[in-house]
Amino acid sequence: MSSPAPPDASELVALLDWYRAAGVDFAVGEEPVDRFAASLPARRPAGPVQPAPAPAAATPAPLVSLPSDPGETRAIAAAAPTLEALRAAMNAYDGCLLKKRATQLVFADGNPEASVMLVGEGPGEQEDLQGKPFVGRAGQLLDRMLGAIGLDRTTVYIANMVPWRPPGNRDPSPEELALCAPFLIRQVELVAPKFLVTLGNVPTKALFGTTSGITRIRGQWRDLVIGNHPVRALATLHPAYLLRTPASKALAWSDMLSLGQALGPAG
Ligand code: URA
Repeated sequence: MSSPAPPDASELVALLDWYRAAGVDFAVGEEPVDRFAASLPARRPAGPVQPAPAPAAATPAPLVSLPSDPGETRAIAAAAPTLEALRAAMNAYDGCLLKKRATQLVFADGNPEASVMLVGEGPGEQEDLQGKPFVGRAGQLLDRMLGAIGLDRTTVYIANMVPWRPPGNRDPSPEELALCAPFLIRQVELVAPKFLVTLGNVPTKALFGTTSGITRIRGQWRDLVIGNHPVRALATLHPAYLLRTPASKALAWSDMLSLGQALGPAG
């Protein structure tokens, strides 16, 4: 049987594109390492004594370092007196592995003077490319939800729990959330909104300090203190979830009405 022809350039590009869409967008070594084989216990075959197995190839040293201590990001964030200083400090910070795989920092969008701040989970593909939170399909739905109560990006401020895109849109890990939380907390302190809305499970669990799922806690107002800033906080469903589960839009709609009511006629 003849062996298949090697892939041509367009097939290689399509393959790389497929890897990238699946989140495989970062090379950690020159040669592939079969970690499954490395972690299998050595099996001793029955019967006559077998020749000693060849020594396993040495595992190459990792090319990436582990995330640093959240104390470091806490100190960096605390030292930033303004949002611009915080953005510059985050841009200069290299301790979060997410940054190595992301196109750019996604700091925030909207009006830093706004009385409403929205907090999402982390940038997706479009946000990573454009450098702004909530600009993809979920962001367009978020704009429509805000528009329904007379708000837009000139009257709200939007940021995320992690400011760099998790590869393949996976959830940020607890370590990544802990590492990046001081940056988000400092943004809350500097924007000092009257109302804070968490979008979905990840920011709700992190900022409400709860293990309850979003479907239990959404729609409820809480008085939180985030960093040194007291704020009225409301959890609602993530617009990406609403795109997948349109039947839940009625719940998010009632949360928006509740926010509109809290803001009053002046907005
Ligand atoms: N989802 C989020 O949580 N944040 C974004 O910025 C975009 C999608």
